Amino acid sequence: MPAHHHRHQHGVMSGWIVRPYDLVVGGVLMRGTYRRIAEHLTTGIVSGGRVLDVGTGPGRLVEAISRRRDDLQVIGIDPSSDMITRARRRTRTLPNVQVRMASAEDLPFEEESVDAVVSSLSSHHWADRVVALDEQARVLRPGGRLWIVDLASHLPDGIRDEVHDAGLRITDADKEVLGAAHRRLVLITARKPLAAA
Ligand SMILES: C[S@@+](CC[C@H](N)C(=O)[O-])C[C@H]1O[C@@H](n2cnc3c(N)ncnc32)[C@H](O)[C@@H]1O
Repeated sequence: MPAHHHRHQHGVMSGWIVRPYDLVVGGVLMRGTYRRIAEHLTTGIVSGGRVLDVGTGPGRLVEAISRRRDDLQVIGIDPSSDMITRARRRTRTLPNVQVRMASAEDLPFEEESVDAVVSSLSSHHWADRVVALDEQARVLRPGGRLWIVDLASHLPDGIRDEVHDAGLRITDADKEVLGAAHRRLVLITARKPLAAA
């Protein structure tokens, strides 16, 4: 499919689409993938550590991470107030989850304050991927992990180079995480180097 075909999918998701999106994509298609991400991404993160989900949408991934590890701080951000409303409703009984309205390009967090940054089906929506990846690299602590999951058909061209240019090291070590979904989804994994080069 030509790249321009996907242009309409860029940007904030709001309005009537939010509920059916949540029920079909989140509730059915991605359910197992969220569980697998929650399990593998959190391995090795110390108690009290912070995980950030960029473009959390209806919040099913932060919910899965929280259920897996109630000792982590799990934060979801999204620029869509309709998504935030839904994510907050979903996670209001989970004390270690926080959902905030923000964009990938402007993260309301200190430098080196996050242990892992994850995004699911969101990278192709970001308004400015270079700025967004710089922001994600900024908030990651040294040694912290970046995971990007997106549809193989929508994965932005050049995103691996952009991850590298943000100062992160591509590891691509966790592909088995996707299981049977690996045909439709791509997982990019990277790590922030321990010391600046
Ligand atoms: C297809 S949904 C994915 C939602 C969820 N992560 C999931 O797995 O279902 C894409 C999300 O990215 C959000 N988004 C759009 N532009 C964004 C940006 N600049 N920064 C962060 N998120 C953005 C949209 O509002 C939407 O909630």
